[in-house]
This record gives sequence, structure tokens and C-alpha cells, in this order.
Amino acid sequence: MSAEIYSSGEIRRGLATSVIGRRVLFYPRLASTMDTARQEAKSGASEGTVIIAGEQTRGRGRLKRPWLSPVGNIALSIILRPDIAGLPCLMMISSLAAVRSIREVAGLKARIKWPNDVLIGGKKAGGILIENEVKGDRVAYAVIGIGINVGLRTADHADIAGIAAGLNETAGREISRAELVRSLLEEFERLYLALPDGQTIYEEWRDNLATLGKKVTATSGKDVMEGIAVSVDGNGALVLRRPDGTMTRVVAGDVTLREG
Ligand code: BTN
Repeated sequence: MSAEIYSSGEIRRGLATSVIGRRVLFYPRLASTMDTARQEAKSGASEGTVIIAGEQTRGRGRLKRPWLSPVGNIALSIILRPDIAGLPCLMMISSLAAVRSIREVAGLKARIKWPNDVLIGGKKAGGILIENEVKGDRVAYAVIGIGINVGLRTADHADIAGIAAGLNETAGREISRAELVRSLLEEFERLYLALPDGQTIYEEWRDNLATLGKKVTATSGKDVMEGIAVSVDGNGALVLRRPDGTMTRVVAGDVTLREG
């Protein structure tokens, strides 16, 4: 059992941000931080409000998959009110912030599996879920959900053993979640406030992708596309070279990607 203090006060202590995490709402247990963040956003919560759960009982991932979220991991959602032009960059910002903070605090080399899975040693250590409410050409709010496996004991979960990684297990020491969340929010803010310079964010995100050069299968509903992942464009779409030599752009949305 961890002796670490993990609370909103602890997270805000020394947090060097001006927007992200200005307000941190910590709940020992929630169904999903996404639902609480959405309610907060609808009731007018300010940009940068962060909802954190000690554990989630109904955590969710992309493509309506469940997301395992036991005590000891990080589960949080950030409320944003970006311009519509900034939406495509949010997945790059989120995964880059996770990669940077894991390197900084845990000393582990994390990489990104397109579009925004966080990998350590080829295994999934984190994931990102983005839900937007767009009205016409205006973003009412965007909720960025970030989950990082910190204290996860992979052997306790047969369904993910072999494909998931926990930071404590990998680093061989206990990583402070409060410190990691602080670093994550600070990196997020740095990237978010630099949004007008989308090119630099795109280049760093692309350079951290573990997917490029690999043979992949992209599945969207019943459609299955095979090819080599040759590049990504500035909006984050993956460019595949099909076996017949033609190029196809794959947009994240409802796509699952299998490598190899
Ligand atoms: C994925 O890889 O499919 C995305 C996983 C996203 C999980 C996070 S944990 C915090 C937030 N609350 C949720 O219910 N999901 C996201």
C-alpha cells in the first residue's frame, strides 16, 4: 500500500501553471472523470479545471472500451475551451505531455502508438480519450481524459497481462503520482499555450511515434486496411502505403491499429 499523499492540495502545492489546474477537484472514487468533467463543463467550469479520481468504477477508453482504473493509477480529465482550429492538435498535446512527464518524473522512455497510446517497452502504460462538444463553428468545451498506469500490478489482471505496463513495476520504485500529475499538467500547459505554433508540436509528436515504418492493420467497423505506416500529416492523420502502392490517409476517430 502506498504511503503517498495524493490529494488536490498535494497536487496544487508548487504547481507552476497559470491555466491548467487552477482548480483541481479530487474525488477518491468516481464512475468516470469524463462524466464529472462534462457536468462541470456544462455548468460553466473555467478552462483548465481538472477532475481527478483516486479510482474509477466505470473508466472508459476509446471505441467504447472499458478502461481499468484501480487505486494507484492516474485518472484525470482536463476541461478546455479551445478555438475550433486547435482541436486536431489536442491529441498530440495530450500524448506528448504524458510522454514528457513520464520521462521527467519516472525516467522511463515512453513513446506514442498512433494516435495517442502511451507505450513503455512496447506495452501500453497510458491512454487518452478526448470528447468535444462543438456547436456550429464553436467549441463549447473539450474534455481531455488521461489515464496512466502507475501502481498497476499487471499480473493481477489476466486480460491485460502481457500488453500493459505499470510505471512502478517498470521503474522498480514507487513513482509519486502527485509529482507526475504536476509535471503532466505543466507540460500540458506549455504545449497548449504554444498552440499557435502547431508545427513544432506536430514535429515532436511525430518524432515520438513508435508506429512509423511499421506494418499495420487499421480497422474501422467492418473495413480493414493493411499497409506500411509511412508518415503522419499536420492534423494527425496516419498515411498508409497499401500493398498496391497507393497511399491512404487514416483519421483517428473510430480506428483501431494493430502493428506487425
Ligand atoms: C484509451 O486508451 O482507450 C483511452 C483511455 C483513457 C482513460 C482515461 S482515465 C481518465 C479518463 N476517464 C475515463 O473514463 N477515461 C479517461
